[in-house]
Amino acid sequence: MYRILLREDLAPNIHRFKIDAPTIARKAEPGQFVIVRVDDKGERIPLTIADWDRDVGSITIVFNQVGKTTNKLAALKAGDSIENVAGPLGLPVAIENFGNVACVVGGYGAATILPIVRALKEAGNIVTSIIRAPSKETLFGEARLGEYSDKIMVVTGDTSNEYHGFVFEPLRELLKKEKFDLVITMAPTCVMRLVSLTTKPFKVKTIASLNPIMVDGTGMCGCCRVIIDGVTKFACVDGPVFDAQEVAWDMLMTRRCTYSGETSPELRYQCYKCAQW
Ligand SMILES: Cc1cc2nc3c(=O)[nH]c(=O)nc-3n(C[C@H](O)[C@H](O)[C@H](O)COP(=O)(O)OP(=O)(O)OC[C@H]3O[C@@H](n4cnc5c(N)ncnc54)[C@H](O)[C@@H]3O)c2cc1C
Ligand code: FES
Repeated sequence: MYRILLREDLAPNIHRFKIDAPTIARKAEPGQFVIVRVDDKGERIPLTIADWDRDVGSITIVFNQVGKTTNKLAALKAGDSIENVAGPLGLPVAIENFGNVACVVGGYGAATILPIVRALKEAGNIVTSIIRAPSKETLFGEARLGEYSDKIMVVTGDTSNEYHGFVFEPLRELLKKEKFDLVITMAPTCVMRLVSLTTKPFKVKTIASLNPIMVDGTGMCGCCRVIIDGVTKFACVDGPVFDAQEVAWDMLMTRRCTYSGETSPELRYQCYKCAQW
């Protein structure tokens, strides 16, 4: 059993848990994830390791309450326990001094990209973080990202910020003004696809943390398969981070969103909107 040491609600339906998991904390690297099973009858869901404390032996997860398992998880409080937390899984992001790096985040990615941004900063990169939320009320993660970013741009769907609307226009303007060596994106699938389309004409290397449906997380079930440069890869063992220009986005989005409207009408609306772009 994995005890919840701390619970914090970051925004409506977005929760942050610090969990007692010393073995995972010892080995976690930026970009890796865990597979969580809330109780002995529960489904297995993948969640990014949003932080860790090797001395205390804890890891942090940040999750969006979207369906059955995340609702069950959200019902827990500090002191409760989770049945299984398996990890760290997936390949860590290769960190080096690339130079000028932009991190484009939305959804849970606003919090879960933190270890990558911190490692990039520690490796000597100049980091610009662009964070997007639908509104001022649903914005989270900007303070912690700001600690490790040279510059932070906040984009909201409402007019509460200098940048409003979607993330693509501010990103395009930034790429026109400055030369970037790398763009990293961790956001809903449709947003990452559009980030990759935005960066393509600028010929800047772009990597994306993919979130296909996963079951075992160890390369055995084939559920998380994605096509990268025409070759089938399993996101759980070959990723989850891949070159965004080589991802077969349409196939990924079709598989990822097949059942989204059945579990959450809100997600159906989002998927309808992506189809319009
Ligand atoms: C590598 C990886 C890291 C992730 N990290 C995070 C994170 O840090 N925080 C976060 O909030 N979410 C993260 N996700 C997405 C998260 O796994 C899903 O939101 C979660 O599984 C939904 O489960 P549910 O039972 O609550 O929802 P459901 O009712 O099952 O489904 C709601 C939505 O979640 C999707 N989904 C369902 N099961 C899975 C699954 N096993 N794998 C992927 N998507 C699924 C469905 O397509 C649907 O759109 C990550 C996914 C991957 C693949
Ligand atoms: S989740 Fe089963 S192969 Fe990746």
